[in-house]
Amino acid sequence: MQVYLDNNATTKLDPKVLEAMMPYFTDMYGNPNSLHKFGTLTHPALRKAIDQVYTGIGANDNDDIVFTSCATESNNWVLKSVWADLMQHGDKNHIVTTEVEHPSILSTCKYLEEECGVKVTYLPVNEEGIVEAHTVKSFITDRTALVSIMWANNETGMIFPMKEISDVCKDKGVLLHTDGVQAVGKIPVNVSQMDIAFMSFSAHKFHGPKGVGALYIKHSRKLTPLLHGGDQMGGRRSGTLNVPGIIGMGEALEIATTDIETKMASIAKLRNRIEDELLKL
Ligand SMILES: Cc1ncc(COP(=O)(O)O)c(C=O)c1O
Repeated sequence: MQVYLDNNATTKLDPKVLEAMMPYFTDMYGNPNSLHKFGTLTHPALRKAIDQVYTGIGANDNDDIVFTSCATESNNWVLKSVWADLMQHGDKNHIVTTEVEHPSILSTCKYLEEECGVKVTYLPVNEEGIVEAHTVKSFITDRTALVSIMWANNETGMIFPMKEISDVCKDKGVLLHTDGVQAVGKIPVNVSQMDIAFMSFSAHKFHGPKGVGALYIKHSRKLTPLLHGGDQMGGRRSGTLNVPGIIGMGEALEIATTDIETKMASIAKLRNRIEDELLKL
């Protein structure tokens, strides 16, 4: 199964998203973490955006979604913090990933190998361009701390069997992170139906603004922060919140996930037509 990527590099901002964001650049520019009126004026719209993002990925009330600057930050955060939490002083030293991950995963893995002595297994994809769950299982050892496998590939659109991979990780008692950048807003994604500990995603892949990403954290699991500072986002990710960006992400995800099957079918039709015409040539 493939995701039909409507524009792999980045997507155009939806006009409705821009409309929702605009007042938070102009009139309601307060910092939500300040106690004064300008700050608190932003709270209802932020609450709405957070609810939209929870709904868009099927997260539960006891989960956490932490806004970041991009999926690259979310991916770096998970890998480096799982190292700090489970590998630096613990008995784990191994990550399983694939050869076809985005550079924000591959370069971070290389860094952890070179600087921290972490062992990383880079699984090759099969002839269909995916890694099957039984292959993942066969490489997990009692020293594996994390499996990090993308949900959909950014070059081929191939969808990885995430439910089966999550079942394997649950069986083996290993944390699963997925880079959901190319899946969220493009195919139905419901994190509550799987045992996914962490999922990274990014607004500009589903017609939201650039410069805003997020990390889903199942059951609000403790994870050492990547950015220390003013204790925003409950101390998980410090830095003044990108209010218009978060509002834009919420709005864009709601639009993208409404009637998602119809959208998938219409993009599939266009994509298949291009392929048919190219093959005729
Ligand atoms: C699969 C995948 N992961 C991560 C990223 C990085 O996302 P961001 O640009 O938000 O850092 C991309 C961007 O293209 C991607 O396709």
